[in-house]
Amino acid sequence: MEDNTIFYNTDKIKPFYAIKIFEKGKKIDPTGKNTIHLSLGEPASSLPKKLLDQVSKKLLKIKIGYTESIGLLELRNAIVKHYLNRYKIEINVGQVAVTSGASASILLSLLSLFKKGDTLAIVSPGYPCYSNILKALNIKVHIIYTNIKNNFDIEVSQIQKLPKYIKGIILSSPSNPTGATINKKLLQEINNICLEKNIIIISDEIYQGINYEIKSKEESLLSFNSNGIVINSFSKYFLMTGWRLGWIISNEDHIKEVSKLAMNLYLSPSSISQYTAIQTFNYYHYFDDIVKSYIRKRDFLIQRLPEIGFKKFFVPNGAFYFYIDVSNFTKNSYKFCEKMVEDINVTVAPGVDFDEKNGNSYIRISFAGSEKDLKEGINRIGRWL
Ligand SMILES: Cc1ncc(COP(=O)(O)O)c(C=O)c1O
Repeated sequence: MEDNTIFYNTDKIKPFYAIKIFEKGKKIDPTGKNTIHLSLGEPASSLPKKLLDQVSKKLLKIKIGYTESIGLLELRNAIVKHYLNRYKIEINVGQVAVTSGASASILLSLLSLFKKGDTLAIVSPGYPCYSNILKALNIKVHIIYTNIKNNFDIEVSQIQKLPKYIKGIILSSPSNPTGATINKKLLQEINNICLEKNIIIISDEIYQGINYEIKSKEESLLSFNSNGIVINSFSKYFLMTGWRLGWIISNEDHIKEVSKLAMNLYLSPSSISQYTAIQTFNYYHYFDDIVKSYIRKRDFLIQRLPEIGFKKFFVPNGAFYFYIDVSNFTKNSYKFCEKMVEDINVTVAPGVDFDEKNGNSYIRISFAGSEKDLKEGINRIGRWL
């Protein structure tokens, strides 16, 4: 009999090194007064005060209870409208599940679609939790390498050559750590090949809305593949990292499976966060202004990075990261980041998180924080190098 059991395998999970560096910064400087964190993808800005006041008033009047396992109907309806209004994409509410962050969306998708021994393709450099979760679930990982010379683009031939046993692929656009985006034509080509090869695409679109290139703006797998699995979140564009809320769009049958899993794993996503999230769709102008501030910080880094000695880096099309070649300075990106926080109280993320093969030559700087911190952090790094 086929053994479909999934045994969790935490031994195989590596730490998230960016978080280790972040925590080291907190340990060295517990008050946090002298430390500048450029390591995490965490927007400095908060939700608008007016929105928070509105939600607080509501929370005083209602009971904060569990919600449906896949989230409040009102929020799921708001997400349907969001796709229609912003992206002209029609979905129905049965295709939406609200989850505890995109992190839960990733886990629920993998648990519901794949089994122990399957192989999934992921892109490197990429978000480290994909390979860590896959390995923990005893799902095998096939890595598609991209590189700076090629603007971190996936090549169509890499998808064409995927072995027959590949069951799924996780795409992420805009990408963490590079900020590279998959343009419409390429996404369409990848989608066609995957449909032919019976490869399920999980498209992580958590940085949607944070785009700098008009041409590559706002692509969603949902535009061409109504059966694709799309993951998104309130963490980035909507500034709600700590509220822990994300969503999955998939076909209705799959959402039923996700619902069963969610109700057993964590009952429901946080109700307080959901009441808040419903209101965010009335504040696009506020979030779009924050994206404009990212454009200013991106321009600042394009100018300042070469001045302080970082000559080779990728200019992001989306998200809020610069992926920087530091091979002139180190052969070990984790040690480099450790020394940086010890010497000058600045945290950045080591490339080894994102790419096991070439990551020791890279660091990732996040420009999601405040302009003031970014300028001071970059000055300190410049003097230190
Ligand atoms: C590509 C990507 N996917 C998923 C996540 C997890 O996001 P969430 O805060 O919604 O769990 C992150 C967080 O940085 C990310 O960069």
